[in-house]
Formats: sequence, C-alpha cells, structure tokens
Amino acid sequence: MTRIAVCPGSFDPITYGHLDIIKRGANVFDVVYVGVLNNSTKSPLFTVEERIELIKEVTKDIPNVKVDAFSGLLVDYAREKKANVILRGLRAVSDFEYEMQITSMNRILEEDIETFFMMTNNQYSFLSSSIVKEVAKYKGNIADLVPTAVENALMLKFKQN
Ligand code: PNS
Repeated sequence: MTRIAVCPGSFDPITYGHLDIIKRGANVFDVVYVGVLNNSTKSPLFTVEERIELIKEVTKDIPNVKVDAFSGLLVDYAREKKANVILRGLRAVSDFEYEMQITSMNRILEEDIETFFMMTNNQYSFLSSSIVKEVAKYKGNIADLVPTAVENALMLKFKQN
C-alpha cells in the first residue's frame, strides 16, 4: 500500500518550522502533498502562486514532495490525492485546541482519513509565518527562520509595499 499524506496549510510564507515537518513527513510517507490553502477570506502577503513557487524551490531536493493548491474542504483535497493521512505540525500546547477542533471536524467529515501530528523541532517551537512577516517588515534578521529564497521574497515584498 502506498502511504500518501497531505500536509495542508496557509504557508504565507513557508518557514523552517514547516520545512522541518515536511522533510520528516517525507521520510515516513511515500508521497507528501503540500497543499496551499487558497482562501479568499484571508488577505495573505503572498499570492497562492508565489507561495507554491517558494515551497517548490525549498523542497526541490525532496523527490517525494509535491506541491499544489486547494480550496474547499481539506478532506476533499485528501480524497482527490488518494491520501489516507493528514499531516500537521504541533508547536506548543497553544496549538492543541485549534488542531483538536479541525481534526475532530475532519474525522466527522471523513472517518477513513487519519490526522498525524509531528512535534515541531524545539528550535522552531516559537516560529510562525506571522512572526516572520512582522520581523521582516521592520527589517529584523530572519536568516535563521526561513530559507534564503523566502528571506529574499520577503525583502522584496516589503520593499514594494
Ligand atoms: O496553516 P494553517 O492556516 O493553520 O492551516 C489551516 C488549514 C489549511 C489546515 C485549515 O484551515 C483547513 O483545513 N482549511 C480547509 C477548510 C476545511 O476543510 N474546513 C473544515 C475543517 S476545520
């Protein structure tokens, strides 16, 4: 049986915390589909296309990672990819309630799809895309938080804005 996982998120933009989960997921599952949520109600800094390009760039050396976008329900995206696992990272207790809520909802919607959690590496337990954007906006050093391609893209965004 091929073990296929989807790793969903906003990835606005991808951080080393996300990348850690994706890499470790790729060691466990045969294929990991990184699904970028295309949600018109949020106002992201990066377009879906930009986010996909950045994820593709920083995962280009991991052959079993594939990247695309999804809209609508996550369980429908997982079904479309024939995935039986949803992979999520957990940073701290503060993530738990939200993750439990979406996991329970997803289980009601599709009981055959399991959600797997990986604890984020301690080094990234404080890290979020929002924090990275905030620091980048005020020209703080984000070199240890995101890959170089993402750092450059953030610098460009804030130069344009
Ligand atoms: O990176 P994020 O923003 O924490 O990811 C949230 C995500 C994409 C996992 C979640 O918003 C999601 O699955 N959205 C799709 C809509 C959906 O399936 N909703 C029902 C379950 S709550």
